[in-house]
Amino acid sequence: MNTEELRGAFRRRYGGDCRVFFAPGRVNLIGEYTDFNGGHVLPCALSQGTYMAVRPRTDGQLNLFSLGYPDSGAAAASVSGLAYNESAAWRNYPLGALWALERRGCPICGADMLFAGDLPTCAGLSSSASIEVLTVFAFNTLCGPGLSLADMAFVGQEAENGFVGVNCGIMDQFAIAMGRRGKAVFLDTGTLEYEYVPTVPPGAAIMIMNTNKRRGLGESKYNERRRECEAALRDVSCAAPVAAWGAIDEAEFDRLKVNISSPTAMRRAQHAVSENTRTVRAAEALREGDAAALGRLMTESHASLRDDFEVTGFELDAIVSAALAQPGVYGARMTGAGFGGCAVALIDEARVDSFAKAVERAYAEKTGLCANVWRITAGDGPMEVIE
Ligand code: GLA
Repeated sequence: MNTEELRGAFRRRYGGDCRVFFAPGRVNLIGEYTDFNGGHVLPCALSQGTYMAVRPRTDGQLNLFSLGYPDSGAAAASVSGLAYNESAAWRNYPLGALWALERRGCPICGADMLFAGDLPTCAGLSSSASIEVLTVFAFNTLCGPGLSLADMAFVGQEAENGFVGVNCGIMDQFAIAMGRRGKAVFLDTGTLEYEYVPTVPPGAAIMIMNTNKRRGLGESKYNERRRECEAALRDVSCAAPVAAWGAIDEAEFDRLKVNISSPTAMRRAQHAVSENTRTVRAAEALREGDAAALGRLMTESHASLRDDFEVTGFELDAIVSAALAQPGVYGARMTGAGFGGCAVALIDEARVDSFAKAVERAYAEKTGLCANVWRITAGDGPMEVIE
């Protein structure tokens, strides 16, 4: 992203100078649907993300425009009385972040804002959490409430839960706020303890594969999955006190699962428990630089998300199969909330170009859709861009 162009676009739209802020997107290597189950996650921030050119106003007015959605026009809101409005579309993310800041008692000012970015949207790379954390970070700098990066993640999550209405866990906002170049964040969402581990074993590369099937129904299905996990937990709690699915291992789950009344809810919980175990093992594999072990765990994760959690779908399954059929692949899985969007593969670094072409070809033959496949590196968290 050329931030000079962004500054120029700001000048043309609002006149005068601005400050520019950035927040990354994220890709989750493994640990899917474990965050609201008190389990582990292993995401990393991307070097792609979202930018905001901004200048404070003294009249409390909030002007929002995005170069990515020029047809959605300019829209204004006020710092007092922020409320979700379906027709505000993408603007609900920055407005929700400001609402969540106000709820925390952080004073916010009016502002002229111009957004741009290089993340595909509705693709499982957390473009919405990126805007939320970006907005919190920028206003934390402009208005000075002095939040820590971890606090910014929680404010971003509050925007999603309380304003947008998606009952997400903390993974996306945490990975974005705490991102570090070359590192993945191994987070225990039960205790909020975290550790940085290398993103990729030596000699291997991480590839993102965008199915270009936009995630449909994601929000309602997401909340449904969360309710199913909670219902299963309530059922077993009659037999034994289990705080969260992330708190028990598979042997304990096997003992307790007879108490779960719905077979569907049982499979959801089965995924949450097995995925947590895989994620802990994946962090070990990264520490040890074991690409083969990590790849196997990723492929098992996809099978569990397909069969037990049922959040994959034709396109994600097709692209993962295409990836697994290539020479030099260690493993592949869907990433993010699923129902379309992106998958991630771990491959031999020497195969990056041939892998990308072969997967795009095989996926097009199977689905008639064009995929985009590219290599990623882990980037830093939010920052002010000074040039
Ligand atoms: C979305 C949510 C996260 C997490 C993932 C699934 O990205 O925002 O909190 O639950 O789905 O792992």
